[in-house]
Amino acid sequence: MVNYRLDMDISIGKKTDDLAGILLEWYDSNRRILPWREDPSPYHVWISEIMLQQTRVEAVRGYYARFLEALPTIESLAEADEDLCAKLWQGLGYYSRVRNLHRAAIRIVDEYGGVMPQTVAELTKLPGIGPYTAAAIASICFDERIPAIDGNLLRVFSRMTGYDQDIRSGAAKSAAQAFYEELFPQERCGDLNQALMDLGAGICLPNGAPHCEDCPWQEHCRARSDGTCQQLPVVLPKAKRKIEQKTVFLIYYQGRLVLRRRPEKGLLAGLYEYPNADGTMTAEDILSYLRTLGFSAVRYRSLPEATHIFTHREWHMTGWEILADEWEEFASGEPREHELFLVTASDLQDVYSIPSAFSKYTEQIRTDYLKLSRG
Ligand code: ADE
Repeated sequence: MVNYRLDMDISIGKKTDDLAGILLEWYDSNRRILPWREDPSPYHVWISEIMLQQTRVEAVRGYYARFLEALPTIESLAEADEDLCAKLWQGLGYYSRVRNLHRAAIRIVDEYGGVMPQTVAELTKLPGIGPYTAAAIASICFDERIPAIDGNLLRVFSRMTGYDQDIRSGAAKSAAQAFYEELFPQERCGDLNQALMDLGAGICLPNGAPHCEDCPWQEHCRARSDGTCQQLPVVLPKAKRKIEQKTVFLIYYQGRLVLRRRPEKGLLAGLYEYPNADGTMTAEDILSYLRTLGFSAVRYRSLPEATHIFTHREWHMTGWEILADEWEEFASGEPREHELFLVTASDLQDVYSIPSAFSKYTEQIRTDYLKLSRG
């Protein structure tokens, strides 16, 4: 049973539509002065939001200034050398962020005439822009009425409403979304998101140390009135990921590579993969396994190990390259579930995208073993 209240007007005596006004008033005199707030062009806000993921505001300031000095526009970023981008990012970590920035800038130039898309729906189509970042950009730059829900907003929501279930769950995000949608005003939505970020970063602090006495919402906060600020939000320990051993095969047969389609349900549903089996196999094991697939007269060589981390499991993979001279049967036509089929180099390039869980093995593909196209 979820024990929290969205009907704050009944529970604590203030209508939710007044809550936004109270917070905006507080923001007007207490907001942090930050460079991207002084000149909030879509490009500036985008760069700042990407830098601020996993990085503190104070650490971002210098990087933000240097990045924009070197690459002042979306066009300059799109045209920049990848090495320069990486250099400007050096020390911030999580380099996929800057690779995605670069790729997205190229897309914005090619597909949107160099103009940043304005809605959450369009923004989330770009690499590296998820729901939070899209909501931040769309609300701050284009006043879209949408909460940018991150850890700060979840914590504030939990305390304001007394939400006492696991704050990392999907249900908590939905409940927070409903709470904020109710109280978001028709305008100044970007300011309200930033006010909530400042409230979360400066007042409604995590780990049981909020400064409730300075909070503009203190009279309307359920956790404050219940004395539960120290207990909220509820953060359940992450379930340990299950470790699964896998053996992955790159099997070449008559100038083509063997692929398989994953089942329609479950992990990586319906995507293509290299044939693989549970467990770590010895050379002897692989020969008998390959015989069950109908392959004989094979030559083989081991490939590097690889690990891929999913939310709830980890794959620890060993790999084998197999050159098969004989295969009893092979499928033709449309690939069906679990069925093995053959692809050429150009099919691999253009038709079948293999999940990044296998990227270590995708790197190992010997295109010189493959025919270019069908025939
Ligand atoms: N963290 C993420 N985005 C932010 C912003 N616009 N202002 C302050 N802190 C942030």
